[in-house]
Amino acid sequence: MIISVTNLKGGVGKSTLAQNLAVILAQKGYNLCVADTDVEQQTSMKWAGVRASLGEGSIADVPVFLINPDTISDQILNKLGKKYDLVIIDGTPALTELTTRIVIMSDLVLTPILASATDVWALDTFLKRFEEAKITKEAMGGKVELRVVLNKYNDRVNLDREIGETIKEMGVKLLDAKVSTRVAYKEATVQGLGVAELKDKNAQAEMAALVKELEKTIKQVAKAKG
Ligand SMILES: Nc1ncnc2c1ncn2[C@@H]1O[C@H](COP(=O)(O)OP(=O)(O)OP(=O)(O)O)[C@@H](O)[C@H]1O
Ligand SMILES: [Mg+2]
Repeated sequence: MIISVTNLKGGVGKSTLAQNLAVILAQKGYNLCVADTDVEQQTSMKWAGVRASLGEGSIADVPVFLINPDTISDQILNKLGKKYDLVIIDGTPALTELTTRIVIMSDLVLTPILASATDVWALDTFLKRFEEAKITKEAMGGKVELRVVLNKYNDRVNLDREIGETIKEMGVKLLDAKVSTRVAYKEATVQGLGVAELKDKNAQAEMAALVKELEKTIKQVAKAKG
């Protein structure tokens, strides 16, 4: 199964969520890898480099591969898909066509967005592209699910809550789980870890809740794929 963490916008937490998702799912026993499609920044590749230096055995195994989004194909993904039950794509703030291709190759798309008006406007553009890609995928007999998650969310801020409501009104499936702004996410990235491997209980709990919610969809998709 291919899960892509993608959005047309940069800096919304794609890499952060891809890594944290991968760590928790690996801890739960999923045989998975991360495909970093950001050939410029290689955020997840760098994260994996730090992680590799921590020593085998002490942390869950999360292999990360660099895949050029220009040449990403079903063949490459099928190869990874044969070896791994889950391939988590860390998307780029890519050109529209690349994002379309990534959506077509995915079974589940997780789109992080920040609670701001500009991000909601950008989400509207992303949704149009997603729907086009979905129609193409369905014409080929495939299916793709979309879940949106609010990142750097503060539930004490009225505007953030209102933005959550606006997103639901756009007819997309917004996860109940939200991700707050926490230093733990930045710390985890530089240490090659997921927040599940740090001591911050709040970050651990919210990420566990997000994964628990997403796992329902993962299981449904896996069942539908047979
Ligand atoms: N919930 C959070 N709390 C605190 N910092 C966060 C959170 N989510 C992401 N960040 C930080 O925000 C920055 C952007 O996050 P990240 O690199 O994951 O975004 P991205 O969408 O992958 O960006 P790009 O489009 O450049 O690939 C990073 O410095 C990251 O550590
Ligand atoms: Mg990134």
